Amino acid sequence: MVHSLRIRPGGALHGRIRVGGAKNSVLKLMAATILARGTHVLHNVPRISDVDYMAELLRSMGLSVQWLGPDSMEIVRPDAIVSEAPYELVERMRASIVVLGPLLASEGMARVALPGGDDFGPRPIDMHLRALEDLGVRFTTSHGFVEATTDQLVGANLLLEFPSVGATENAMMAGVLATGTTVIDNAAREPEIADLANFLNAMGGSVTGAGSSTVVIEGVTSLHPATHEVIPDRIEAATFLAAIGVAGGEVVVERARIDHMEMLVTKLVDMGMTIDQTPEGLAVCGPERLRSVDVATLPYPGIATDYKPMLVAMLATADGVGIVTENLFAGRFRYIDELVRMGADIRTEGHHAVVRGLPQLSGAPVKAPDIRAGAALAVAALAAEGETIISGADHIERGYEHFVDKLSGIGVDIAVAQ
Ligand code: UD1
Repeated sequence: MVHSLRIRPGGALHGRIRVGGAKNSVLKLMAATILARGTHVLHNVPRISDVDYMAELLRSMGLSVQWLGPDSMEIVRPDAIVSEAPYELVERMRASIVVLGPLLASEGMARVALPGGDDFGPRPIDMHLRALEDLGVRFTTSHGFVEATTDQLVGANLLLEFPSVGATENAMMAGVLATGTTVIDNAAREPEIADLANFLNAMGGSVTGAGSSTVVIEGVTSLHPATHEVIPDRIEAATFLAAIGVAGGEVVVERARIDHMEMLVTKLVDMGMTIDQTPEGLAVCGPERLRSVDVATLPYPGIATDYKPMLVAMLATADGVGIVTENLFAGRFRYIDELVRMGADIRTEGHHAVVRGLPQLSGAPVKAPDIRAGAALAVAALAAEGETIISGADHIERGYEHFVDKLSGIGVDIAVAQ
């Protein structure tokens, strides 16, 4: 496991860098294999620690998970499984909560540890529970676990208070084996939701409308195993775009899809970048210096909250002042203290950050507080005179595969520090 990274600014970037499979999709696809007995195969699976955690969780339930090659994974779902997600695993990865829907749909019961808060502040699961309750699930909570049972899931009209990604996914995975029709209104519209729907349909499910605000699920009585290719990771792609924006240069970001990140690309073009879709990915050109813009995070198709640390790092070295507004998670600004230690001029007020760009930052020892913030510090280091040492780099490995090798491949001066 990598604990610290050393980065020095090395001039403009050149060459090709390849985007892996989407973390926020593959974790749910892995959970969905609980729904059908037999052997599933996922392709384009990223080699990241969160995938290892989900594999561990599935193994603890009795499924077998193994790599078939560099990025293919076989998951065998046996007849009998243990319907429980233990605290040690849920605590390590909050996304584990998505096993709740599939466990209920296939086993009629689930015992899942309650996820704690994390560095983004409290992240409740009330919407997941309400949606499942509407489908006929009874819940009790005791000793830090949610205990859920149902005699039969029954399709229903669900109206989400907010387009929550996790709640939409849990409801889809429960609804797919419910009797009758489930309609999820105000559903999350992320590309990862459509990827999950495609996998469920490949398993024999009937899900339509995924990617829009209304998802309609006609329940089926059973599902069969399937083979599926995970969509590319738009957040990893965005991280590479940010690096090219800050360092300048010309790079092909292979496999990246503009249709999954249109709003972000529009912003980056406003900042002075050139980004064109080609059959192999995105042809990207960074300017001499970026221009500042204002940014507000919103549910998809708005600018994702996960892009924000990268955008703040870009604005920290851009020409002008940019205001960044976080609308999804309270307290997702912790990494800003680290950027300030690198000389950035950023003030935060509530859920706003005012970023005054400087031509150059100053390399410093900094700490990665979470996956995306860690990657953003690496981006900022490209415009920081001297050396930046990022500790807590194991956070970065939760969401980025071969981070050092991939970035070195386009000319970033980056190495494992210890
Ligand atoms: C997913 C992504 C995460 C991304 C987020 C928003 C994964 C593994 N993670 O997280 O990277 O930042 O979508 O795009 O896919 N909320 C409630 N009650 C609930 C559920 C959510 O109040 O029951 C709130 C959350 O606190 C947050 C907002 O709704 O303020 C959005 O959360 P949600 O879309 O559910 O995010 P996740 O699925 O947890």
